[in-house]
Amino acid sequence: MDRFGFISEAAIRQLARELNLSRADIHGVVSFYHDFRTTAPGQHVLKICQAESCQAMGSRNLTAYAEEKLGVDLHGTTDDGKLTLEPVYCLGNCACSPAIMIDNKVYGRVDQNKLDSIVDACGARCES
Ligand code: FES
Repeated sequence: MDRFGFISEAAIRQLARELNLSRADIHGVVSFYHDFRTTAPGQHVLKICQAESCQAMGSRNLTAYAEEKLGVDLHGTTDDGKLTLEPVYCLGNCACSPAIMIDNKVYGRVDQNKLDSIVDACGARCES
């Protein structure tokens, strides 16, 4: 999955064959875990924590800000394919809420300015 960024239908069929399981078994696992996907993500993946501690510290407002600035809803990818915005449910960084993760790097105490800086730094800025 790291190489392609997602698990294609062809890969699901191959996994089922190799593991002697049904496609439904493989699909069940792929669809259960948030980190698996069946479509290609954007070049960068930004995850904003939606769990309790981060919610208490403003992650819903931060999410709304990101959606507006990037022009996508959660689970969406910008039109230029640079960034996919996703929810995540606890990054283990609750003491530094609200937390985000971009390209597998976690950041804490993220406000709108910090989010802008982080997104800009990875080259994924998409002005709406
Ligand atoms: S609740 Fe957001 S990092 Fe734990």
